[in-house]
Amino acid sequence: MTSPKPTVVVLAAGKGKRLRSPIPKVLHRVAGRPLFVHVLTALSSLSHERAVVVVSKEEDAMRAAAEGAGFTDLEYVVQDPPNGTGDAVKVALEHLGVVDDVALVVNGDTPLVRAETLKALVDVVREGATAAVLTATVADPADLGRVVRRPDGSVERIVEARDATPAELEIVEVNCGAYAFDGAVLSELISKIDRENAQGEYYLTDVVQLMVSEGHGVEAHMVTAEESAGVNDRKDLAEVGALLRAQICEKWLQEGVTIVDPSTTYIDADVTIEPDATILPFTFLEGATTIAAGAEVGPNSRIVDSEVGPGATVTYSVVRGSTLGPESSVGPYASLRPGTTLGRGARIGTFVETKATSIGDDSKANHLAYLGDAEIGRGVNVGAGTITCNWDGRDKHKTIIDDDAYIGSDTMLVAPTHIGKRAATAAGSVVRGDVPDDALAVGVPARIIEGKGNKMGRVERAETESEDD
Ligand code: UD1
Ligand code: CA
Repeated sequence: MTSPKPTVVVLAAGKGKRLRSPIPKVLHRVAGRPLFVHVLTALSSLSHERAVVVVSKEEDAMRAAAEGAGFTDLEYVVQDPPNGTGDAVKVALEHLGVVDDVALVVNGDTPLVRAETLKALVDVVREGATAAVLTATVADPADLGRVVRRPDGSVERIVEARDATPAELEIVEVNCGAYAFDGAVLSELISKIDRENAQGEYYLTDVVQLMVSEGHGVEAHMVTAEESAGVNDRKDLAEVGALLRAQICEKWLQEGVTIVDPSTTYIDADVTIEPDATILPFTFLEGATTIAAGAEVGPNSRIVDSEVGPGATVTYSVVRGSTLGPESSVGPYASLRPGTTLGRGARIGTFVETKATSIGDDSKANHLAYLGDAEIGRGVNVGAGTITCNWDGRDKHKTIIDDDAYIGSDTMLVAPTHIGKRAATAAGSVVRGDVPDDALAVGVPARIIEGKGNKMGRVERAETESEDD
């Protein structure tokens, strides 16, 4: 072994028949990431030479998923048809040419495998073995390959469940589907395996027996049953998802995040949370979401691809593609759609829907409103029942509301419209066109009364009572 870095092969071309899905198995997601992206993530913290992903005809979807997760320097090789894991490795090796260093081969459907484990496998080969196989002792070996050992305890071969004798089926040590090989020996022996087995496929596992019979050392590296868990069917997908979820909650608890009930908290792998944030039960944090210190999210909330600022709160609400400023608050029962930005201390209350809308510092829409394609300044109060009529049946138009404006209850803002600073609209008005600074818009269609905006009594009332009620 001269080269210090392994060459990596990820097997991801299987159809996943047992999932009964038109989508390749490894594209199914757990904790927000496709299965094989979890494997790529573990591999990425291990320095390596070339990395090849063996894919099926759905190469483009696989590439898009990997690139979407930031993996841009992978090589793809198509295995069509998928004739088994042995054939997949053969296709990869033909693409790679000579591999004289360690070849690290990992099934793409084992998302819990850790970087340290993969590194340990490589080290076993560095230290002299020809191959290292990842194994685990499991309660229910089901259809996994069994590790057959000789009387002296050394690995003899791996037998697939479907080809095993009843005695072999009793073996509870299974092959986890990750291997390090001496690249040269692997290249030589991979072409010697056949498909004389129950599935009529080329089994990668058959190289183990070939190596052993030629006197090469093959060692097993054991991990916990949990880490070995792979996905073959929907039940596995749910179980692996639950294991990952528990691990993710555990990690954030250790980092100083309060998670009141981890068993009802669903946090995707790519979410980040600052210490001293609080996550209340029945909450889903998905995609590229970040939660800042002191924020409180939940109960019963779903946050997708959003930023929740320091001290912000989200209660019984759905927030997607949005940025919530410090101390802002959302809910109960609000829907923030992509492109929503809340400034410091802004408030979105009950039955309010927003989309592509920025809401400035200390502005409020506390009840029953639709705000779409709007730019709302600071200190604006949006009354109950307000609607930005942003679509005229053909095009979308913008609504601009300047600082300290007061939108009375049940105002229809027919876009494009621009409400000036400190301007006001009366309850039930239908506003078309612009309302100048300090003006009041009244009626249907609204008449403009210059200079009367402040006469809504907003300033006086704000000083004496809460505007929440
Ligand atoms: C495989 C192992 C089994 C082990 C189990 C661990 C073999 C023959 N068996 O079985 O010993 O216990 O993994 O999870 O290797 N793939 C391809 N091309 C193919 C077939 C599969 O790239 O032609 C990929 C799949 O996408 C998958 C991986 O290889 O990511 C494993 O394939 P799968 O069919 O799930 O193998 P198992 O039956 O689970
Ligand atoms: Ca599998």
